[in-house]
Amino acid sequence: MRNNSDVICHCEGVTYKEIEDAIKNGYDTLEKLGDHLNVGIACGYCIEDLEEILEELITGQSSA
Ligand code: FES
Repeated sequence: MRNNSDVICHCEGVTYKEIEDAIKNGYDTLEKLGDHLNVGIACGYCIEDLEEILEELITGQSSA
């Protein structure tokens, strides 16, 4: 499980909480997150995690 303070994108120092907030505010694709928070752009290492988080949050929301 992830904690709010976990850094997901190390290049930009962006935490799980920041990504979660962005997704809730409508930045609900990799592209939108990249535009908004600059995540997934530098090395791309975090993209797998971002995809997982997107899936978790979006699936969790739509099935609730
Ligand atoms: S860790 Fe996110 S772009 Fe490098």
